[in-house]
Amino acid sequence: MRDILSKSFVFTALSFVLVRVFSYIAEDAQVAANVPQIAVYFGTKGRYEEVNPHLKDNILAVSKSLLNPPSADCTAVHLTAIIRHGTRYPTKKNVKRMKDLYSLIKREAKSTEQWMEDIKTNWKMWYTDDMDGQLVNKGKDDHKHLAIRLAKYFPSLLSKENLRNNRIKFITSSKHRCVDSSLAFQQGLYSHYDITDMGFNHEVNDTLMRFFDQCRRFVEDVENNKTALREVDLFKSSAEMKRVQEKIADRLEVPYSRLTTDLTEAAFFLCAYDFAIKSENSPWCQLFDDSDALVLEYKNDLKQYWKRGYGYDINRKSSCTLFHDIFRRLDQAVNEIRSGNVTEVATIQVGHAETLLPLLTLMDFFKDEVPLTSSNFAVQEQRTFRTSQTVPYAANLAFLLYKCPEGPRLQLLLNEKALDFNNISDPVPLYEVVREQYKALLNGCDFQTECELLNLNCSKCSEL
Ligand SMILES: *[C@@H]1O[C@H](CO)[C@@H](O)[C@H](O)[C@H]1NC(C)=O
Ligand SMILES: *[C@@H]1O[C@H](CO)[C@@H](O)[C@H](O)[C@H]1NC(C)=O
Ligand SMILES: *[C@@H]1O[C@H](CO)[C@@H](O)[C@H](O)[C@H]1NC(C)=O
Ligand SMILES: *[C@@H]1O[C@H](CO)[C@@H](O)[C@H](O)[C@H]1NC(C)=O
Ligand SMILES: *[C@@H]1O[C@H](CO)[C@@H](O)[C@H](O)[C@H]1NC(C)=O
Repeated sequence: MRDILSKSFVFTALSFVLVRVFSYIAEDAQVAANVPQIAVYFGTKGRYEEVNPHLKDNILAVSKSLLNPPSADCTAVHLTAIIRHGTRYPTKKNVKRMKDLYSLIKREAKSTEQWMEDIKTNWKMWYTDDMDGQLVNKGKDDHKHLAIRLAKYFPSLLSKENLRNNRIKFITSSKHRCVDSSLAFQQGLYSHYDITDMGFNHEVNDTLMRFFDQCRRFVEDVENNKTALREVDLFKSSAEMKRVQEKIADRLEVPYSRLTTDLTEAAFFLCAYDFAIKSENSPWCQLFDDSDALVLEYKNDLKQYWKRGYGYDINRKSSCTLFHDIFRRLDQAVNEIRSGNVTEVATIQVGHAETLLPLLTLMDFFKDEVPLTSSNFAVQEQRTFRTSQTVPYAANLAFLLYKCPEGPRLQLLLNEKALDFNNISDPVPLYEVVREQYKALLNGCDFQTECELLNLNCSKCSEL
């Protein structure tokens, strides 16, 4: 009898375990089915959840390891966060390319695969010209949810009392998608604290958040310079890109000559946007395998590298004003720690990928030994300059100042993960150590000097 009982107990326990295991597998498979396999390669069109996969299960989850101060005697006293706007619609230029591709396929693609049937009959061209880069509902949620998570991480800073006493400052780029993101962030905080009687406030400051438009040297030498992105153009006609185009043409069954790089990329963007905006694993995604996506990801990274990253020195230098402004806020908070009264406890600044990349580059992060070029795709497989990881929608760089008995300390968080300073072994170093590290930039890096155009009339100025 005892034998039977224990056997049946074992059986029950085992089947319980099995049911659990199978239900996990089933859930995983279900989640996976909604996420395109290539979603981790979408670069600046990537979803924040791909960078922090634990958010797929619970969008308000905070990771426990980040919740603790550097030591029990430290308290957080100031936060400056530089945040990219949330998920947005495509621009006019990309909408046009996607429409061109769609009509080409409707007319000429001969493939009889199921996904092709889906594209031709079930999928509708829903992108329109007037969407032009605006924030989508998912983009509002990106910021609402980020606000709630940051309030959970730093309850003493992003607190109800600090909100009510205007000790939290909101600054944004003038672009609609950024202003709307800033409002959504504030809504997130209000909903977290059940605040219903407060209005929204923000200060538009393009000097800080769109410095790239105002740096004439950058605009002239890089932005409007047809040869500045030569490496990107060369990569468009590289063997790697050609191979991808041929594979896509083969899958669609259209002649190779019909599928340009722009149209190939448009198919990739259709997959990326359908997913980022509607959380759909669209039939367009079936056109690509991982190796194709890696090539298209590299093409996007090459562009960012030469236009916003280490490619040209002016890219990083254009962010000097923002860099100085951040350290001015930190200096102010450090001085106020002594008097025991930090007046501005948090600054939430919303901008663009084009705001974050030059700043990260100025501060020497994600610098590979070998530059990214059109000819070293294979060498760069393990590169650290990878926008899919660093600047997805709602990407954020947080400067977190702690008051500690031995002096103030500074921690950096990129997308809610600790970002270690180069050449400093302490993960949360003393503020003075960080200032020492960036001494040259703090004493120099003058926007006017870096960004004004050289006067051709003045070739002998240095001798005067
Ligand atoms: C923007 O910020 C800069 C740097 O802090 C400041 O000098 C400037 O006055 C601000 N502009 C506006 C319009 O607030
Ligand atoms: C454009 O970029 C190329 C490549 O960096 C550079 O040699 C050239 O001087 C730039 N032209 C202008 C007008 O800045
Ligand atoms: C802290 O500073 C604010 C603004 O300057 C002031 O209103 C408040 O009285 C100060 N509090 C203390 C405790 O000094
Ligand atoms: C870090 O050290 C390396 C070599 O040790 C040096 O090339 C680099 O400039 C240093 N970076 C900073 C930010 O000081
Ligand atoms: C020199 O400067 C003057 C006035 O700013 C301008 O009109 C002229 O075109 C410049 N000459 C050259 C060669 O840049």
